[in-house]
Amino acid sequence: MEVIIQPDIKTASVLGAHIVARVVKRKPDAVLGLATGNTPLLLYSELIRFHKEENLDFEYITTFNLDEYVGLAPSHPASYNSFMWKNLFIDLNIPRHRIHIPDGLSPDIPAFCRQYEGAIKAAGGIDLQILGIGTDGHIGFNEPSSSLSSRTRIKTLTMQTRKDNAPFFEDEEHVPQHVITMGVGTIMESRICLMLAFGAKKADAVARMVEGPITASVPASILQMHQHAIVITDEEAASKLERADYYRWVYDNKPYWQKYSF
Ligand code: GLP
Repeated sequence: MEVIIQPDIKTASVLGAHIVARVVKRKPDAVLGLATGNTPLLLYSELIRFHKEENLDFEYITTFNLDEYVGLAPSHPASYNSFMWKNLFIDLNIPRHRIHIPDGLSPDIPAFCRQYEGAIKAAGGIDLQILGIGTDGHIGFNEPSSSLSSRTRIKTLTMQTRKDNAPFFEDEEHVPQHVITMGVGTIMESRICLMLAFGAKKADAVARMVEGPITASVPASILQMHQHAIVITDEEAASKLERADYYRWVYDNKPYWQKYSF
């Protein structure tokens, strides 16, 4: 796991966007796994800037989103479908038929989940998966106690996650109880996992993910087993990492051929 501590959210997001852009440039038909929430917003606006100002082309890119609320129509303002169109897709040139977001209104959720897994496989697997982390250590919507080898399926949200996500809804009562999420096992098959975590309220989850034991109680901790996981934090989210100085030292002293040069 590579831990990169950046001074602030902007610098961290720009670095994350460069890593995504590098994958897109090297493989113009790459498959990207996308996340929602506040965390990737600046990374997404930077990708839009690369597209508009530096001709970064997304025409052959395929995307799969991590998750969606069950029972919300794509047009619902708090759906992840709406979020993605508003904050990313509207400004990029990804063809609509290559954009995949779980269908929260599917009448047969298990069948839909199998089909979603099949579509990821048929696309050749995910080259780079963007991730955020929940305050309880979830990735996607894989709440604590999720099987670390789980596949796309329905999950029930914890009270904490419903509280955390309430600002996107009228109030907590309106946050759906159920979601469809890629599984931890699905996420782990991505060739690169790029996790972003910002702010003091993520500091505990980040410390448990990076330095705690691998446990289903902190689903993100399984990223310790991933061959290419990059975690980019701001100073606040890194504030409870015991080995923060070592991670900084490693990043500052990377061999020149291993550095991110943009
Ligand atoms: C939701 C999403 C996650 C996201 C998490 C953190 O639960 N399903 O993919 O990482 O929230 O959200 P935020 O980035 O707003 O802190």
